[in-house]
Amino acid sequence: MDNIRIGIGYDIHRFMEFTLFEKGSKSLYLGGVLIEDHVGVSAHSDGDVVLHSLTDAILGALALPDIGALYPDNLKTTEGIKSADILKHAYGLVKAEGFRLINADIVVITQTPKISAYKDRMRESIAGILRVDKSHINIKGKTKEGLDAVGKQKGIECHCVCLLSS
Ligand code: CDP
Ligand code: ZN
Repeated sequence: MDNIRIGIGYDIHRFMEFTLFEKGSKSLYLGGVLIEDHVGVSAHSDGDVVLHSLTDAILGALALPDIGALYPDNLKTTEGIKSADILKHAYGLVKAEGFRLINADIVVITQTPKISAYKDRMRESIAGILRVDKSHINIKGKTKEGLDAVGKQKGIECHCVCLLSS
């Protein structure tokens, strides 16, 4: 039987408040897709919660160092880095161990934007970054029904599970 591994990833970012000292992205990126006319998030990178949670899921499946260990958020050299590049690097480590992605299932929890409107583009974008079939990547959106900080539109969070096989 193939060697299979399951992984889980989670991420959350605050929506930008545009205070003088806040570092972050003016635009919102999800799954590598630019979300039009939406406030961005506070982050060291472009703050893509979808790609960050997916990155941690694939790394976690092989017990590799997590995203924060690979890309510490206090390094000047990686400020503003594209999350697609982080994910590509992580998947390179996965492939170097002889594994490939079977599938990933992703839940974005946020009041806005409506994820269903971007779902196809996000799946295509991720499939392109990893060079896997789009049918193996799934994304769905959910609100927090107005509850908690995410429900009060203070931020956006994302969960991901994935399966790898050698
Ligand atoms: O209906 P229920 O209260 O379980 O869930 P909801 O959070 O109100 O979301 C209903 C549906 O809207 C979801 O199943 C998604 O199809 C869609 N949705 C979305 O596309 N993007 C979001 N940010 C939230 C919800
Ligand atoms: Zn993140």
